[in-house]
Amino acid sequence: MPLRLGARVDRMMRPVHRWVWGDFDRRVRKLLAFAEVETDGGRDILRAAEVTPDPLLRRLYLEHAIDELRHGDLFRKRGAALLRARSAGPKTIFSGTPLPGGHGLDDLRIEGEPDHRLLAFLHVAEKAAAGRFKIYREVVDDDPSTRAIFEEILRDEVFHMNYTYTQLARVSPKTYRRQVWRARASRLWKRYLRLAAVLAGLFGTIVLTIQYFVLLPPFVWFAKRAEKREPLGWVPIARDRQESPTSQY
Ligand SMILES: [Fe+2]
Ligand SMILES: [Fe+2]
Repeated sequence: MPLRLGARVDRMMRPVHRWVWGDFDRRVRKLLAFAEVETDGGRDILRAAEVTPDPLLRRLYLEHAIDELRHGDLFRKRGAALLRARSAGPKTIFSGTPLPGGHGLDDLRIEGEPDHRLLAFLHVAEKAAAGRFKIYREVVDDDPSTRAIFEEILRDEVFHMNYTYTQLARVSPKTYRRQVWRARASRLWKRYLRLAAVLAGLFGTIVLTIQYFVLLPPFVWFAKRAEKREPLGWVPIARDRQESPTSQY
């Protein structure tokens, strides 16, 4: 359910995705960010291949890692090619993207994670990635080379999504459904925390701005009024003053 909800939200956000990918600079940034996530994910899965005691999983993890590293390369090369093709500097004020990346492998933890938990996490992440890449493939229809990359990567992500589920059912036949639910809940919770952090930052900025324009002006007004009452320049000390002239106060 949370994942279906996520897919529905993604579909509803299609105009935003189109807006993000419609701008040249944002497109390049997205591709380069994806390159990082895919490469990091590939390295982590390579580590999983090293530590798993299961020979079949070792082979599958290795294939998976090679795929992710290749995805990273494809995204990086495409981003670099677009950058080379660009003749002028950035044209937009806002070059960031309000939406999270496609894969979600950046949350991956290998050390101390048993295979069933890792497989459940990978299955959920790959399923989400497949849904996202399907949307991205459609919104970059003006750019056949980028579209071809999404097309190719999408096929791999579907394979990753399926093998992780099959293997999860093999290594954890009694609890695999529960594992998937746990992975979905954990992913949803992390998404919520990220969103909450962004909203907290936004809220903090708004409150501080209001404080600056609403609370500070009265103090400025009082300070200016007090300043007017103060005599200008040097002031003679009264003869009956008892305090030491060398005292700080
Ligand atoms: Fe990938
Ligand atoms: Fe993948």
